[in-house]
Amino acid sequence: MDISGIADALADHGYLIVPQFISQQKALEFYAYAKNLPDQQWQLASVGRREQQTINTNVRSDRIHWLDSDVAEENEFLAAMNVLRTGLNRELFMGLFDYEAHLANYQPGAYYKKHLDAFKGRSNRILTTVLYLNPEWSKADGGELVIYGERGEVLQEVLPTLGTMVIFLSDRFVHEVKVGMKDRYSITGWFRLNASVSGIVDPPR
Ligand code: OGA
Ligand code: MN
Repeated sequence: MDISGIADALADHGYLIVPQFISQQKALEFYAYAKNLPDQQWQLASVGRREQQTINTNVRSDRIHWLDSDVAEENEFLAAMNVLRTGLNRELFMGLFDYEAHLANYQPGAYYKKHLDAFKGRSNRILTTVLYLNPEWSKADGGELVIYGERGEVLQEVLPTLGTMVIFLSDRFVHEVKVGMKDRYSITGWFRLNASVSGIVDPPR
């Protein structure tokens, strides 16, 4: 799917699922990179904003690694997302200013309970992206992303299969990650507005 297809789906529905966002080859490279990342490069994910930020395993129990444009392998992904960012700005006048992203690893038994990634007017996260990196994943492995509609109905259940990308408006869709049976790898990111012009606090990291 090209950028104008992505823009159209976002404008119409506020979310979309792209089954082959990147080539299998590229996705496998990111998977190998994540899998081989040493333990000390991962941190326990935390929940909440700045001062209330705590490591709260009741809400989520994954571990994360923030991507850094100074690391060539990581910048490859960030650069691709920057192309999407400028394309979306061109098509939808979204004024997306930058992008931040982390690798996530849900070990067997890990989950992320129902949540929103942003609250209206209180965060500069506009659009969430999740790219899945799992070469072999079936329904029996669990770990689905469940996206809910405004009345709490299930809109989508997404298996985290290699190369699948999900994009949604950060303040609109409650979502959760179900418990999985195997190591689950992904890259989660957020397109953001410029905090200095929008006058709102950066989300914690
Ligand atoms: C998140 C998140 C979804 C997923 O990191 O905020 O909701 O499927 N991730 O990994
Ligand atoms: Mn989320």
